[in-house]
Amino acid sequence: MVTGGAGFIGSHIVDRLIREGCEVVVVDDLSSGSIDNLHGSEGSTLEFVKGDICDEEIVSEALRDIDVVFHAAAIVSVQRSMSDPGFVNRVNVQGTSTLLRRAAEAGVRRFVFSSSAAVYGKTVTLPVSEDAPLKPISPYGEGKRQAERLCLESSRDSGPAMAILRYFNVYGPRSSSGEYSGVIRKFAERLCARRPLVVYGDGTQVRDFVNVVDVVSANVFAATTRGGVGGVFNVGSGRCTTINELAELETQLMLGSGERARLEHMPARAGDIQGSCADISHIENVLGFRPGVTLEKGLAVYLDAEFRTLRA
Ligand SMILES: NC(=O)c1ccc[n+]([C@@H]2O[C@H](COP(=O)([O-])OP(=O)(O)OC[C@H]3O[C@@H](n4cnc5c(N)ncnc54)[C@H](O)[C@@H]3O)[C@@H](O)[C@H]2O)c1
Repeated sequence: MVTGGAGFIGSHIVDRLIREGCEVVVVDDLSSGSIDNLHGSEGSTLEFVKGDICDEEIVSEALRDIDVVFHAAAIVSVQRSMSDPGFVNRVNVQGTSTLLRRAAEAGVRRFVFSSSAAVYGKTVTLPVSEDAPLKPISPYGEGKRQAERLCLESSRDSGPAMAILRYFNVYGPRSSSGEYSGVIRKFAERLCARRPLVVYGDGTQVRDFVNVVDVVSANVFAATTRGGVGGVFNVGSGRCTTINELAELETQLMLGSGERARLEHMPARAGDIQGSCADISHIENVLGFRPGVTLEKGLAVYLDAEFRTLRA
């Protein structure tokens, strides 16, 4: 089962599982995901259940005969968690709790939880390792921290074997568009419109951009290797990139190598983190994970796939 399988990351997990010959059930309420993201899997062994992970009946029914759950459904917007914390908590924490309880009853063997680097909050030491203190600064990050705890408790209380993956900034085809989309997509949209790139703060804040192909590999390693059991793992590229560097790179890839980024600075946003970059030695050592896609290569493929027509 892939919850949130019609979303950005979930649909890439589905693609990989189908390629590996798995039978897959997707549970998604399509609140931010789209059925179009699953069209590549038509005619395959895919069952789609439109429903809310908070709905006990739907979840129980869908969990029949499931071996492994990849739990990627969530409200992913930090900004929305500030404006509507109750709603985000209902899906991200209570929804996870429902799913865990029902997965334990259904005899699910493995559970891979999509957590977030947002659990770390304002980290002092970069790159950040998994044993750093968890001090989330947004309701979204706090919800992920609580959901992680529920996952580990469930696993200890005879629930499924657990792996927790803390994603950093994931990018790639099908990433969500609209108000809450990530910085890479927003920059690309502004470049297509020949408008300056909006940078919150001075642009020296660092991020770890990890390609969705690598995030999918981490999920598969977590679900299939012994080392995955009980583990908490950062999933990043291990490379720190400033927002200003990203702006230059995207400008060059989209407008040509001689072009410089035009920036429009805005005040830093509440809930945004100054520095976020993953120490990935744990996942490398324990799961054998290696990020395979460089930012230059991954961005070129992504921008070409999603913005080619806009650019023309
Ligand atoms: N994209 C990133 O950079 C990033 C970084 C860190 C963590 N994550 C985590 O990875 C997971 C996937 O994120 P994404 O970027 O693919 O987001 P997304 O919004 O594209 O996917 C989330 C999916 O969950 C579905 N969903 C939301 N609420 C639901 C509910 N109540 N019941 C059933 N389905 C529901 C949505 O319709 C959507 O298809 C999330 O848990 C997110 O917190 C993502």
